[in-house]
Amino acid sequence: MLVKTIKDMKSIVKKLKEKGKSIGFVPTMGYLHEGHISLIRCSKKDNDVTVVSIFVNPIQFGENEDLDRYPRDIERDLQICRDEGVDFVFYPSADEMYPDGFSTYVEVEGLTNRLCGAFRPGHFKGVTTVVNKLFNILQPDRAYFGEKDYQQLKVIQKMVKDLNMNVEVIGCPVVREKDGLALSSRNKYLSEKERESALSISRALFEGKKMFEKGEKDPQKIISKMKKIISSYPEVKNVQYIEIVDPETLEPKKKVEKGDLIAVAVFVGNTRLIDNIKI
Ligand code: PAF
Repeated sequence: MLVKTIKDMKSIVKKLKEKGKSIGFVPTMGYLHEGHISLIRCSKKDNDVTVVSIFVNPIQFGENEDLDRYPRDIERDLQICRDEGVDFVFYPSADEMYPDGFSTYVEVEGLTNRLCGAFRPGHFKGVTTVVNKLFNILQPDRAYFGEKDYQQLKVIQKMVKDLNMNVEVIGCPVVREKDGLALSSRNKYLSEKERESALSISRALFEGKKMFEKGEKDPQKIISKMKKIISSYPEVKNVQYIEIVDPETLEPKKKVEKGDLIAVAVFVGNTRLIDNIKI
């Protein structure tokens, strides 16, 4: 069932709560793919009712980013939700979420300065604000986020802990194409040649992991090999960062240990792609 207003969504949630139903929530910006579907399936398994939100959140995009061209296809998304047995799709407008005079934001400090946060000022503030609003509207028991956006997952978990919110935030593994490319709605931007170059990212991540497994503990050696791999592909325009970090604090490591995270952000053509792997 499609729900467009906060008022209607809240009244549905109230009835579900009265009946004692557990609510699983999958927040998305639409243009759904197998990664989102894996989150929906986890939610369906754990909860009585699953709600998917589709909202391209304007306040998490920087001025020169891709808000206007972000891929959208609501009919296709609704069909996927129907096929997957989603109970409710919350699809508010930007005016519904941010009426005139809106002026309250939620910000997680520290964690948001690193990795993507260093290159996308204000991005995580936009994410935590919208997710906070969505949690307030939907009052989910559990919410599901993809580990491809690993920093986002950690930032949201921190927000929930710091603000004593009553929701369990669950991370689900990155879903990849057969050739290794991590699924992302932004893959839609890639030309055939760019897609080939985008494979450099997962190839470099797998190589980084392999180097560690063979005994390499020096992050700089792993990072420089990965950089070499990625930069060798023709459509790679800029390697924004390759970092090996502690999976909880996201602080760069001096010596690599099992369980650390290798995280990458790369521009392939004009498309900024991120990916990561735990080692
Ligand atoms: O990961 C996303 O798609 C978005 O950042 C989210 C969590 C739906 C918030 O707009």
